Amino acid sequence: MIRTSLCDLLGIEHPILNAPMSRTAAAELAAAVSNAGGLGMIGGTTRGGAEWLRQQIRSTRALTDRPFGVGFVSSFSNIDELVQVALDERVAVINHSFSDPTAYVKAARDCGIRLFAQVQSLEQAKRAADAGVDAIIAQGGEAGGHTGTLGTMAFVPAVVDAVGSLPVLAAGGIADGRGLAAALMLGAVGVSMGTRFVASHQWGGGSWEQTPLLAAGTDDTIRTAVYDQIRGAEFPNGIADRVVRNAFNSKWEGRANEIDALRTELQHELEVAAGQGDSSVMDISGGEAVGLVRSLESAKTIIDRTVDEAARLLRDNAARLH
Ligand SMILES: Cc1cc2nc3c(=O)[nH]c(=O)nc-3n(C[C@H](O)[C@H](O)[C@H](O)COP(=O)(O)O)c2cc1C
Repeated sequence: MIRTSLCDLLGIEHPILNAPMSRTAAAELAAAVSNAGGLGMIGGTTRGGAEWLRQQIRSTRALTDRPFGVGFVSSFSNIDELVQVALDERVAVINHSFSDPTAYVKAARDCGIRLFAQVQSLEQAKRAADAGVDAIIAQGGEAGGHTGTLGTMAFVPAVVDAVGSLPVLAAGGIADGRGLAAALMLGAVGVSMGTRFVASHQWGGGSWEQTPLLAAGTDDTIRTAVYDQIRGAEFPNGIADRVVRNAFNSKWEGRANEIDALRTELQHELEVAAGQGDSSVMDISGGEAVGLVRSLESAKTIIDRTVDEAARLLRDNAARLH
């Protein structure tokens, strides 16, 4: 067992969250993570809408009596209705990524909900701390999905130093007990893992998305704005999408002007590829930790092994001290 202040704050056994992956972190994954002693997170999505989110929250509640949360890509317009659902349903935690969380703090506090902010720069971390969030997730650019450029190893301790006693979680590149132990050594009180849980039985995406992620190695991801540009996705400057490298993103990376001119055709190509489950075209979000992920497992197996391995490493390494 590894007990940190995050476990006390949330009433959980293990200091591990699954990342709130839009749409694909749904009830099954959130409940499995919470039942395994972590904090399950549902990824709220404007595509699914308010009713989808309410259903996922209620399904999660039917599958677990433990705490769980919801996360949002808060740079998207139209998330207010989704946030209201999470507030009304009194989830344990709400996480906001890619926006200043200030506007969301009071309502969460009034509902007794813990408010987290996932940040990609020190300035954002300080602003979130000043706004009164309950914890900060410092996300390094190794992360799968949308992310910044700072590396987890230097970013996490810098955030820890900057935000005083506020709990900090590490995200980006953590897929096993080595990553959890390292994050704790950097001063984090927990971790949020996305890529590792994509390769879980309870992840809500398709097997055509998991197969290339399992096959990819450490060198095989790319941080790209190609898909966001084609779709007109509302992410802040400096944020791009870390995905598994494929023929499509290799072809279009660095060709922003041409993409602008061909946007309608490229949007159509993505729609067709999504329908066909074509991973040579679609964005398969995965972080640099893909190289550490080799098999599909249950969320419980992942959590148990991660905690056991981290505990063993922390114990064994103490023996090096003389
Ligand atoms: C498939 C996938 C989808 C993601 N979607 C979201 C999202 O919707 N909202 C969000 O805040 N972060 C999202 N992320 C990023 C995670 O919150 C988290 O920071 C990241 O997964 C941590 O790095 P790791 O992938 O190396 O574990 C996503 C990550 C992945 C792998």
